[in-house]
Amino acid sequence: MPEPSQPRPADRVNNEDAINCWDQAAEEFASFFADGGDLYHKYIINPCLMELLGDITGKTVLDLACGEGHFARHLVEVTRGSVQVVGVDASETMIRIATERSQAFQDCLTFRQGDAGDLKAIGPHTFDVAVCNMALMDIKNYRQAISEIARVLKPRGAFLFSILHPCFFTPGSGWLLDDDGSIVGWQVDNYHTNLAWKWTVKRVMTEQTYSFHRTLEDYVSALRENGFAITDMREPVASAQLIEEHPRWVRELRRGSFLVVRCVLLEDMRQPCGGPNAV
Ligand SMILES: C[S@@+](CC[C@H](N)C(=O)[O-])C[C@H]1O[C@@H](n2cnc3c(N)ncnc32)[C@H](O)[C@@H]1O
Repeated sequence: MPEPSQPRPADRVNNEDAINCWDQAAEEFASFFADGGDLYHKYIINPCLMELLGDITGKTVLDLACGEGHFARHLVEVTRGSVQVVGVDASETMIRIATERSQAFQDCLTFRQGDAGDLKAIGPHTFDVAVCNMALMDIKNYRQAISEIARVLKPRGAFLFSILHPCFFTPGSGWLLDDDGSIVGWQVDNYHTNLAWKWTVKRVMTEQTYSFHRTLEDYVSALRENGFAITDMREPVASAQLIEEHPRWVRELRRGSFLVVRCVLLEDMRQPCGGPNAV
């Protein structure tokens, strides 16, 4: 497994390079979802997102940075096709794989390539719900992405996202081991510096992709500036039963791995009377 690259200031990585890395990694990344799915998504992240989503029957849903499309397909399955989902991803290869894997869902599911920071092909107030599953930390232009989500959501629309927990996964974070290789703790470093680093998001991947570290305050201010109010926030971990089945996961209790946030669009900040104090 390649070592993570030396972190560098986030503004020295350009958006196209970050997207190209994802395109290169797409086949390998998608292979984790071909066979029953990635375990973290399946058992920890997606159930939490589904709980916060609630009933989406009859709704229009944007799955932004949808990857190979497993979550979009799941939405169609749980609603038995009573939903319209559009998956968008910047990687052409991800979109090709997502489309191939979703032939049976064509009536309610479409995919298109696009940059999260510039969704020009989508008109304003199109969706009831937007989801961005484990991707905002990989999107260079996350503030533009949040602004675009606010534009394409209907008033009072919901935006849900999951990310690697930014208080724990920072450039330079990692397990602290003793001389015998046993875990003694989890180290966090560089929390207040916006750094980008290249790594393999799945331990056995060879292709590296960029992630961009931001503080919790960065995310919250981007949401607030775009008219979103946070209505729920979770830090999901494996249940006791899951830990019994996958004993390795007991170590996940020592750190926060994932953050799942639900927000509602209260204010269209593009309206002349909108302003930070209007919400
Ligand atoms: C860790 S993957 C998550 C994919 C999927 N949501 C999932 O949960 O499996 C991150 C995704 O973000 C996409 N991505 C990165 N930058 C993007 C951008 N600027 N606009 C849209 N998608 C982007 C990548 O192509 C990749 O599919």
